[in-house]
Amino acid sequence: MPEVVPGPAELRGRLLAIRRSGRSIGLVPTMGALHAGHRALLEAARRQNDTVVASIFVNPLQFNRKEDLETYPRTMSEDLKVCDDCGVDLVFAPTEADLYPVEQLTFVESAALSQHLCGQFRPGHFRGVATVVLKLFNIVQPDRAYFGQKDAQQLAIIRRMVQDLNVPVTIVPIPTVREPDGLAISSRNQLLTLDQRAVAPVLSRALRKAIDVIQNGEQRVAVIREQALAVITPCAQTRVEYFEVVDPELLTPVEQVDGPVLVAAAMWLGPVRLIDNISWPD
Ligand code: PAJ
Repeated sequence: MPEVVPGPAELRGRLLAIRRSGRSIGLVPTMGALHAGHRALLEAARRQNDTVVASIFVNPLQFNRKEDLETYPRTMSEDLKVCDDCGVDLVFAPTEADLYPVEQLTFVESAALSQHLCGQFRPGHFRGVATVVLKLFNIVQPDRAYFGQKDAQQLAIIRRMVQDLNVPVTIVPIPTVREPDGLAISSRNQLLTLDQRAVAPVLSRALRKAIDVIQNGEQRVAVIREQALAVITPCAQTRVEYFEVVDPELLTPVEQVDGPVLVAAAMWLGPVRLIDNISWPD
C-alpha cells in the first residue's frame, strides 16, 4: 500500500529529499471515490514520473451546496487499493484543518473564465477549485500535474492560472474515459436508476452529433445546436442546463465555427447532473 501522509509539512519534508535527488514528481489531485477516469490519470503519472503523489481531499471551498459536500462519497480504503494498483508512491490525504488551519482569506479567481458553462450555475465553484489546486501545487511542487478533459472548464481555468501566475508546473491533460456506450465515467453515474442509466448516454451522443454536423461542414452554431439537441429532447427525465459551442481557451460562446472549438454540455437526469464535452478537431 502507498504511504499516506496527512500533514502538508510532513509531505513537504518527504518530497524535499526526493526533489533534491533529482527525481521528478507527478501530482494527481482528486476528491477520492476513485474510478477508471482517475486511474487513467494515475497511470499516466506513473509512466511519466519517478515519484507519483495522489491527493485525496473533498474540498469544502468548491461546494456551493452544503448537502452535496455532506453526501459526497468517501471511500478511502478502496481508494488506497486503487492507488496501490496504479503504483502511487505517496497519498496526501489532509483533513480540512490541515489544509485550512485558519480562515482562508486569499483566493484564486478567474472571473472571465468562470462566467461561462458550469460557472454560471455554480457560483464560487471554480474559485474554490483554483484556490485548492494552487495550495496543492505549492505543497507538492510537482513537475507535472494531471487533469481530466472530462472537466474541460476546470482544466482551462487551471491552465490559465498556471500561465498567468507563472506556476512552475506542466499541466498534462488526459482524455475522458467512457463506458462502452459512451457515457463519461463519473462517481455520479452510480446515483442513476436503471432507467436513467439507460438514457444517460444520450448526452455523449448529442455531443457526437454536434461534432458530426461540424465535420460535415456546417459552421452556424444555431444549426449545430438544434440538430444536437434534437437527440436529447425526446428522452424522458432529461433537462439540458446548457449546450454550448465555445472557444477552447477563453470559453466564450462562438456563433460561427471557423477554428478549434469545445462543445460542452450539462444535463439533468432526474436529480443527477451530468456534464460532458468534446473538442473539435480532436
Ligand atoms: P475529481 O472529481 O475527483 O476528479 C479528479 C480528476 O479526475 C479531475 O482532473 C477530473 O477531470 C478527472 N476525471 C474524472 N472523471 C474522469 C473521466 N471519466 N475521464 C478522465 N478524467 C476524469 O476534479 C476534482 O476532483 C476536483 O475539482 C480537484 C481538481 C481535485 C480539486 O479539488
